[in-house]
Amino acid sequence: MSTTEQRVAVVTGAARGIGAATAVRLAAEGRAVAVIDLDEAACKDTVEKITAAGGTALAVGCDVSDEAQVEAAVARIAEELGGPTILVNNAGVLRDNLLFKMSVSDWDTVMNVHLRGAFLMSRACQKYMVDAKFGRIVNLSSSSALGNRGQVNYSAAKAGMQGFTKTLAKELGKFGVTANAVAPGFIATDMTAATAERVGMGFEDFKAAAATQIPVQRVGEADDIANAVAFFTGEAAGFVSGQVLYVAGGPLD
Ligand SMILES: NC(=O)c1ccc[n+]([C@@H]2O[C@H](COP(=O)([O-])OP(=O)(O)OC[C@H]3O[C@@H](n4cnc5c(N)ncnc54)[C@H](O)[C@@H]3O)[C@@H](O)[C@H]2O)c1
Repeated sequence: MSTTEQRVAVVTGAARGIGAATAVRLAAEGRAVAVIDLDEAACKDTVEKITAAGGTALAVGCDVSDEAQVEAAVARIAEELGGPTILVNNAGVLRDNLLFKMSVSDWDTVMNVHLRGAFLMSRACQKYMVDAKFGRIVNLSSSSALGNRGQVNYSAAKAGMQGFTKTLAKELGKFGVTANAVAPGFIATDMTAATAERVGMGFEDFKAAAATQIPVQRVGEADDIANAVAFFTGEAAGFVSGQVLYVAGGPLD
């Protein structure tokens, strides 16, 4: 590919939150961005933000845990934008509960969206990366990978994302493809707002309480994560692979 050709990036779960901020950021870096989320119409805001700034974006409805939908979505992206060589596996859900109350369906949903979704998306996109001899895969892990009460499903999935990332790095490195994980701490999004609601706290109080436990004394914003993803997906980051970057306002225990 010539250096003037625009690279195509795919960001999953990009209708809102960290995914939306990442899609906007990658577009600002000059990427054409496929904005994937469950509902195509819900991707409209992110796409409009990108196109209003002069960028190129495509809204794609897709459940990343569904093999046929993933295959169709990636084929459509390749057709309409070009073969994707940057992939951010960001789509995620929470189904928190203590072990003794956790249902099999809550376990399976979290495994399917995070791990199965990242697997299906990476498998569908890798051929374009191998052909281009260039690729950047970034997987969203979490500080919960280190263990978090009430999240036995989510912490297992997010720790799994780290092993998945390191293996992708080893398998795909010889094709010019890097794989890295970003592990956020507390980021203010609808996901953490829903957790505040679940534990019966106002979001502002919940954020203020979290901030007291974070060395930089604030919670993270979606852009804090988008910045880290922009680094890993950059042209200059080709020798950085198989890494897990905690972005949490300080070190974690
Ligand atoms: N917010 C945090 O504090 C935090 C911390 C650590 C890790 N993370 C991770 O970062 C990622 C983004 O989190 P967020 O806070 O922006 O969450 P969010 O809930 O605001 O957004 C997640 C998006 O993913 C989409 N999604 C869910 N299931 C999907 C599926 N099957 N297919 C396609 N899209 C799907 C949702 O519709 C939603 O738009 C997630 O992987 C999350 O686990 C978030």
